[in-house]
Amino acid sequence: MCGIVAYIGTKPALPILLEGLKRLEYRGYDSAGLAVINEKLHVAKTVGRVRVLEDMLEQRTRTEHFDGTLGIAHTRWATHGEPSDRNAHPHSDNKTNGHGIALIHNGIIENYAVLKTWLQDRGHTFNSDTDTEVLAHLVGELYDGDLETAVQSALREVTGAYAIAVICEQEPGVLVVARKGSPLMVGVGKDEYIVASDSSAIVAHTTQAFTLDDYTVAKLTRDSFRTTTVDNVPITPQIRELEFDLEQISLGAYEHYMLKEIMEQPQALRLCLKGRIDTRAGQVVLGGIAQFARDLVKARRIIFVGQGTAMHAALVGEYLMEDLAKIPTEVEFASEFRYRNPIIEEGTIIIAISQSGETADTLAALQEGKQRGALALGVVNVVGSSVARETDAGVYLRVGPEIGVASTKAFLGQVMVTALLATFIGRRRFLSADYVSNLLRELEAIPDHIDKVVKLSDQIREATAKYIERENWLFLGRGHNYPVALEGALKLKEISYIHAEGMPAAEMKHGPIALIDDGMPAVFVATKNSQYEKVISNIEEVRSRGGHIIAVATEGDKHIRKLCQADEDVFYVPDIPEPLQPMLTVVPLQLMAYHAAVLRGKDVDKPRNLAKSVTVE
Ligand code: F6R
Repeated sequence: MCGIVAYIGTKPALPILLEGLKRLEYRGYDSAGLAVINEKLHVAKTVGRVRVLEDMLEQRTRTEHFDGTLGIAHTRWATHGEPSDRNAHPHSDNKTNGHGIALIHNGIIENYAVLKTWLQDRGHTFNSDTDTEVLAHLVGELYDGDLETAVQSALREVTGAYAIAVICEQEPGVLVVARKGSPLMVGVGKDEYIVASDSSAIVAHTTQAFTLDDYTVAKLTRDSFRTTTVDNVPITPQIRELEFDLEQISLGAYEHYMLKEIMEQPQALRLCLKGRIDTRAGQVVLGGIAQFARDLVKARRIIFVGQGTAMHAALVGEYLMEDLAKIPTEVEFASEFRYRNPIIEEGTIIIAISQSGETADTLAALQEGKQRGALALGVVNVVGSSVARETDAGVYLRVGPEIGVASTKAFLGQVMVTALLATFIGRRRFLSADYVSNLLRELEAIPDHIDKVVKLSDQIREATAKYIERENWLFLGRGHNYPVALEGALKLKEISYIHAEGMPAAEMKHGPIALIDDGMPAVFVATKNSQYEKVISNIEEVRSRGGHIIAVATEGDKHIRKLCQADEDVFYVPDIPEPLQPMLTVVPLQLMAYHAAVLRGKDVDKPRNLAKSVTVE
């Protein structure tokens, strides 16, 4: 979603802001803008890509002085008002006697309409349809020579979510930033601070940073900072080392982040597993939840909440939890859970699964569950994110930053962590040390298996090319592989814009079978497991109606090859225990989606209408 970068220091701000915006491009946006103070406030903004903004600046810097050392920059993903030049951020307090204030904002100001009327009554006129401009005017209205105080006062009047950065022509050595419910962190350099909504815009400059808590305001000058609550109570943030470096967020030799992240899944899972399994002792070591081990063992019910791919990982987690830990488990869309009247009994554990840790619905569902007395756990990738901070305890994915908009390595990390969690609990309930030792050996081998599966990439591209003109695809699986079918369909939809349906293979007969026509691609996850024979029957059903089979099967399965016609495709994956199969079977489907998008000429890393993390409802 929207991205924020802000800089105060001794270097020219403009290149730092532009570079930061480019690093945030992956989050999804429709317009970009920035403001720099060099005696006067200089603002440039436009609908479209950061490249368009750069071109605009190339012209304007011939006559205008954008070379100050204080500035703010933003990529906008429209919520209030269409994507347009005038709705792009920054917004200013341009009442006739304005103070030269510029403000950028992520989030939503819920009471903006009331505030707007109040400001209009006081003579303010507005140039955009945004809630953000209202906040800029409010800060201007309350400004009395001290930007920090004006921002604090304005935020006390606001309901909603925000991460903001504000500068003022009258205070050219001050940057004020604040946060509630939308991520924001401050990178601490030597005589400089770089603020961003995402650490990927900071790591090129410093690895020391602190995250702002909700309702916190930070006033930054070139060589000092002060943090307070919106009520001006001083607080001391904790500066920590950022957990990844520039190399991890660089494309390297790959054409797209999505491909890089698919191909690097073996390394990502090795990192995820590091130090967490003791195969000899048959133990899973999860420091983050150790203090709640007793609650987990005694748990009567587990509820997973998440959205999109994270929700699919939760569905795999449901099978794992019931198989290994033998605890009744449910999965729910966080967006539904938060508005139901869920019954939370004693012994309920709510587990939020989220790559970003910033998905608004997932965060709200977690809060709802916690408020009703559940123990709140998180399975999250981004360290220090909102979900991670809201939980009682949790397990980080540790798969490294995910830049690709389509989630891939995070899915594998989420499944791996839920497998670890289920084994951790299962070992303390019913599973023997021997059983767990064997299981952990299987888990440990998964990265090596994936190394083999990603080598199928060329074969998968050729197979995908055969069906590239088809507008409707089916993805079918059963049992543990049913969520994989859902995930395969989601991946194809979101980056290639091909319509795809994923479902349990048996469900097909209850209606969707009517869709099958001559040559329709039907992707089956048909690995050797307890439901293999049933899936084979489903393949026959699709075949007899003219559908074309693409199968993900277990190495050595000759039967399925014979069942498929010569021009149909089978992708073989290594044979592993049934509960762990999704970590292998999903990989060919990720590659298929990637190749389909490239073959269709789509921009894989910038899919239309999508944002990397959905921080609004
Ligand atoms: C799909 C995708 C989304 C996310 C969903 C939840 O490729 O990326 O469906 O999985 O928006 O995001 P997180 O995991 O950040 O909560």
